Amino acid sequence: MKGESLLNHPPRAEVSAWDQFRKLVRGKISENQPIAPYTSYGLGGPVRALVEPKDTADVQAVMRWLAEHRVPYLLLGGGTNVLFADEGFRGVVIRLGKEFQGMAVEGETLRAKAATPLVLAMRRARQERLSGLEFCAGIPGTVGGAIAGNAGTRTEWMGERVCEVTVVDDQGEVRTLEKNDLHCAYRHTVLKEKAWPVVEAVLQLQPADREVIDANMRRYFQYRRGRQPKIEKNAGSVFKNPPGDFAGRLVEQLGLKGKRVGRCRISEIHGNFIIHEGGGSAREVLALMREIQLKVFEATGIRLEPEILPMGDWNPEEIAAVWDFSKGGDE
Ligand code: EPU
Repeated sequence: MKGESLLNHPPRAEVSAWDQFRKLVRGKISENQPIAPYTSYGLGGPVRALVEPKDTADVQAVMRWLAEHRVPYLLLGGGTNVLFADEGFRGVVIRLGKEFQGMAVEGETLRAKAATPLVLAMRRARQERLSGLEFCAGIPGTVGGAIAGNAGTRTEWMGERVCEVTVVDDQGEVRTLEKNDLHCAYRHTVLKEKAWPVVEAVLQLQPADREVIDANMRRYFQYRRGRQPKIEKNAGSVFKNPPGDFAGRLVEQLGLKGKRVGRCRISEIHGNFIIHEGGGSAREVLALMREIQLKVFEATGIRLEPEILPMGDWNPEEIAAVWDFSKGGDE
């Protein structure tokens, strides 16, 4: 791999910068770490350094070091909505671990640290008889990741619940953003562009009877059951739904369900899910995405836009063919 020579024989200046990094960070640093175990697809090559900061001050120190040394970085939450390159990444991946889990109820709000699993936030709200997170039933991932990507269902999404979000900006400053600052749209917020790690969020909920909350949760769980693959490795919906239609419906209509490339295939249960059977590659998922886009475009003129995010050292052209397809151009 190209990056390896850099890793094994770094120039002198780089050695001291990385030495400084190792001394500076109080959390865990894993160097040349395969990223696959940290993604729901179970795909992705080694990253130069995976860092799990200890606290917010540690995140600030990491962000300052990255800015000073102009080292590229990526933020990984639960890794449930990403397609990480087989080549890995020659920069730093920041992932908030156990230190960033935990919640406190304050009146009708829930303050949650960013790495808190969404499902635990939902359960805690239920315990406190607070409604508003039931739609998270069955959504994997963390509170921070769900906010950044504005996760949700077709009718409810995280952005609506946000009171404020605490982030660390790219200069290492702590900032508090309010709901309007996030510029929430369908599966989108400003945090997807800014790459500022979310460290904590306050969610606005409302009091409700336990029975009502339970009934809502059941409704969401039941909706997903049988409609979405559960056990097999996947990253949820691969494409956003196009206006007035559904990506899954289009894939099914074109008879693409079950279509396979290597060890990856389009789910038979839901056409907008791609399954990794194990032993496959991110490039195989990419090939299936490209095929879906081309077939759907050919048949309907619709250009599907990916929902999942590409991460790591992809060949830029390869990635642009799929992620810029909806902008028109190359077919
Ligand atoms: N459909 C088919 N064939 C399929 C899949 C779906 O004909 O293989 C049809 C369904 O019958 C239905 C329509 O397409 O009429 C929509 O399907 P579904 O209800 O499964 O929802 P979706 O629009 O495909 C969205 C979100 C999901 C979320 C569900 C339920 C997007 C891209 N996806 O899926 O979110 O769980 O609604 O609320 O908006 C995710 O974002 O990762 C995700 C899983």
